[in-house]
Amino acid sequence: MSAQANRTKRRSIGDLVKGGPPIVGLTAYTAPIAQILDPHVDFLLVGDSVGMVVYGFASTLAVTVEMMIAHGAAVMRGSSQALIVVDMPFGSYQGSSEQAFRTAARITAETGCAAVKLEGGAEMADTVRFLSERGVSVMGHVGLMPQSVNTAGGFKVRGRDQHQAERVSADAKAIAEAGAFALVIEGTVEPVARAITQSVSIPTIGIGASPACDGQILVTDDVLGLFAQFKPRFVKRYAELAPLIAAAAAEYAADVRARRFPGPEHCFGMS
Ligand code: KIV
Repeated sequence: MSAQANRTKRRSIGDLVKGGPPIVGLTAYTAPIAQILDPHVDFLLVGDSVGMVVYGFASTLAVTVEMMIAHGAAVMRGSSQALIVVDMPFGSYQGSSEQAFRTAARITAETGCAAVKLEGGAEMADTVRFLSERGVSVMGHVGLMPQSVNTAGGFKVRGRDQHQAERVSADAKAIAEAGAFALVIEGTVEPVARAITQSVSIPTIGIGASPACDGQILVTDDVLGLFAQFKPRFVKRYAELAPLIAAAAAEYAADVRARRFPGPEHCFGMS
């Protein structure tokens, strides 16, 4: 039996260790997808990317706490091994540390997840400290921060020039020192990701941030070829499911129209 198949206990934040094998994360929003991914990953992120991937929004800004709780609870029900991290959505934590605690406590209590993730750099360090000291496990998220799409002028790679590189590094250091247990670094250049990974004591999880990080995460729908609007450079497609789904739908439609479906084998008989 493989080591993966042998795993039965759900992972905790202590299982995401720096310096070991690379940490594997994927996003999940539903129970059936969580069930399929669960044996293969160290953690599943119920990302607020759900807003773009599932709800068709142009950004993550319209995602609500209620949506995150519904999807977080579904992913918890569908999984038994992976550590589950749930994103705190835009507007639910930036107001104050107290607001962040209320949101984190609600998400944790109503989903059963082990940790929450929030976006932000040095300006969020006090909040991360406030949460960590009150029993909330926090995953940070620096670099390209989708919830800052309006102030950043779009979904842009961060850290290409010296000024931005210093800013991303300072953000990472502040969040790590404030007590986050892990840090997502999104959309930055390899030297910045490498310098951060070497300087902070917590594991770094890259998305579009090079192999220099302690682990990687991707949006599952990107990996599976289900989110067809665009394909960022950092995504590797491991499957192309969209054409398979379209072909299945077309075949079903043709069968119904030709009265080939349902067949006798799909019908109930009289007793
Ligand atoms: O919302 C999300 O899916 C994320 C990942 C891209 C890290 O934050």
